[in-house]
Amino acid sequence: MNRLISFTLMPVYILGIESSCDDTSASVLMDNVVLSNVIANQQVHKDFGGVVPELASRAHQQNIIPVIDKALKNANISKSELSAIAFTRGPGLLGSLLVGTSFAKSFSLGLNIPLIEVNHLKAHILAHFVVQSGKEKVLPQFPFLCLTVSGGHTQIVIVKSYSEMQIIGQTIDDAAGEAFDKSAKILGLEYPGGPLIDKFAKEGNPDAFTFAKTNVPGLDFSFSGLKTSILYFLRDKLKEDPMFMQDNLPDLCASIQSAIVNTLMIKLKAASKQTGITEVAIAGGVSANSGLRKAISDMQESAGWKVHIPEFQFTTDNAAMIAVAGYYKFLDGTFAEQTVTPYSRGGI
Ligand code: KG4
Ligand code: ZN
Repeated sequence: MNRLISFTLMPVYILGIESSCDDTSASVLMDNVVLSNVIANQQVHKDFGGVVPELASRAHQQNIIPVIDKALKNANISKSELSAIAFTRGPGLLGSLLVGTSFAKSFSLGLNIPLIEVNHLKAHILAHFVVQSGKEKVLPQFPFLCLTVSGGHTQIVIVKSYSEMQIIGQTIDDAAGEAFDKSAKILGLEYPGGPLIDKFAKEGNPDAFTFAKTNVPGLDFSFSGLKTSILYFLRDKLKEDPMFMQDNLPDLCASIQSAIVNTLMIKLKAASKQTGITEVAIAGGVSANSGLRKAISDMQESAGWKVHIPEFQFTTDNAAMIAVAGYYKFLDGTFAEQTVTPYSRGGI
């Protein structure tokens, strides 16, 4: 009871720390209002065509203190004012997660404030509840559906509350982000290729080429067949014309993007029909994709959906989403022990 009274009177300051993959990020929130959100991207992976786990964890070690320092400075608060530390416990790369987890544990111990563990996938969804000072925002109402699409995951989730979420569909092989990145690699584009496919697609015709899609029953997805289909298609075309790829890059990108977005939308529409839920959000890195953003916003008109599309800065990995997930756990009094360890795999 006392705790509730003090919460309503005093603002809660949460420091969020994200280090699950190749972005080191720290953010400070006052309640659910973001005061700072600092992200250090790692450039070391570009030459390798994907994230190299060992290099990622080393870069997190170099970045973590400057990033947290900057987040506190940008928020204009001192560490002694923090109410709690929230960190990504998993899923993600273990060596990367260990950096954020170890830092969060020692910082909370040193400051004698609660430690809060956050599930990365739940946090992508809860990014919809991050509020920016001076900006109007309509928050999703429970229950809503969320299509979480990132480099590692593709899921349709019924979001019942800040903590209770149920996966009703997911990929059986590659994630949507992987489908973008692997297709981009075949086209000779740099990692991560998703944003580049999106960029070139804007100039191309989405109906120029068709690629085979794997149809999986129910609400699950499969993207590995698309990659094979693109590979065989290009192998044949390049035999006839060695310049085929260069000459048709925008059309290829638009057609690939359309294939991925259509697959996502078919299952999302089926999920809405099956559950009767018409309040629908998208989250995760691939929710930055302009084709997907347009396809879901069109559903407002055509099917009466109430849609929630995240701001670009909250689509890819960021610590504001970790801090907001931490904030709701703080209100519940759900804290982690100092013995907590990260996990690389797992659901929501
Ligand atoms: O959520 P995220 O930052 O990290 C993971 O948790 O995986 O997502 C990264 C993924 C990458 O696969 C990247 O290519 C993809 O999001 N991505 C995009 C776009 N921006 C990022 N894919 C398509 N279009 C975009 N505009
Ligand atoms: Zn992510």
